[in-house]
Amino acid sequence: MSYTAATNRYEQMEFRRCGNSGLKLPLVSLGLWHNFGEIDQFQNARNILRLAFDNGITHFDLANNYGPPAGSAEETFGHIFKKDFQPYRDELIISSKAGWGMWPGPYGDWGSKKYLVSSLDQSLKRMGLDYVDIFYHHRPDPETPLEETMGTLDLMVRQGKALYVGISSYHPAEAAKAIQILKKLGTPCLIHQPKYSMFDRWIENGLLDLLGNVGVGCIPFSSLAQGLLTNKYLKGIPQDSRAASHRGNGAMDEDAITDEKIEKVKKLNALAEQRGQSLAQMALGWVIKDPRVTSVIIGVSKPAQVTDSLQCIKNFKFSSEELQQIENILAE
Ligand SMILES: NC(=O)c1ccc[n+]([C@@H]2O[C@H](COP(=O)([O-])OP(=O)(O)OC[C@H]3O[C@@H](n4cnc5c(N)ncnc54)[C@H](OP(=O)(O)O)[C@@H]3O)[C@@H](O)[C@H]2O)c1
Repeated sequence: MSYTAATNRYEQMEFRRCGNSGLKLPLVSLGLWHNFGEIDQFQNARNILRLAFDNGITHFDLANNYGPPAGSAEETFGHIFKKDFQPYRDELIISSKAGWGMWPGPYGDWGSKKYLVSSLDQSLKRMGLDYVDIFYHHRPDPETPLEETMGTLDLMVRQGKALYVGISSYHPAEAAKAIQILKKLGTPCLIHQPKYSMFDRWIENGLLDLLGNVGVGCIPFSSLAQGLLTNKYLKGIPQDSRAASHRGNGAMDEDAITDEKIEKVKKLNALAEQRGQSLAQMALGWVIKDPRVTSVIIGVSKPAQVTDSLQCIKNFKFSSEELQQIENILAE
């Protein structure tokens, strides 16, 4: 069935400016790390992407290694893009990344110019795109000079293969250095993509302050702790869950679902109910309550999760009592 995007797609979504840049991102973005690989159902992936865009999610986040197998999420996206989204290319922000192991030998991993240039060319081919909107270095490389990695990001923009560039999982000191180098090169760092959730708050120790001060956007990932911060695991580990799937490629497994975590999740779930929202909505709302956060990237395995999670934009205000209750639960 051919696709025409919903005419009211921009009615509900809020957009935030990404740092000091000219680019605005939707408060909720969609990531294709899992559930869009060759092992997943194509039609489900297609339904998710259509529903997301119909609701104003204009940003799809990919990387060279998403799948599994690595590369297949970009291929799936490429097929769907060709069928459904080509007429909407100028309404979309599509990102990709390189920095994790992608092919054998010394040129398929980390942060050399050799790796990054080849990888972006491969990603563009898989997705059937002329350019990506954002290209990220996916993780810091302790061996390659930062000047080489950042110089390559600058080159990609000058070559027209990426409009903007970003970094992911860089700690504050290395992020500050990378941002400085990019600024000198004349290609400002648009955005930083860190892991951030109620269960993983490392960015509160300096990174958020840095990004806020220098005017670089922040787009957290795994803000539902891969599904743990939802009502999904309250009564055990469902068969159709990520934890039971053993998909590999960094996906959590049963070991992540500990009694200690579930105790906290139950209490957080009760608080979410009091607020009149699902736990997924509260966990995402808790992340976007900070104005330095430009957008939150959600992962989903089914369309209904898009519908549920998206409602976080309806209520992300927390009273000081609620914030304290959350602190108490997390500290227990
Ligand atoms: N830069 C990086 O290094 C990096 C690393 C990881 C991720 N990311 C990006 O961040 C994106 C999101 O990461 P993530 O998948 O870990 O995110 P997440 O949002 O923490 O977890 C997604 C999972 O949570 C469950 N879920 C989602 N919405 C739900 C709802 N409303 N109710 C119940 N369960 C719900 C689903 O699990 P089930 O599958 O069990 O249904 C879904 O697959 C990725 O796709 C990627 O774009 C970036």
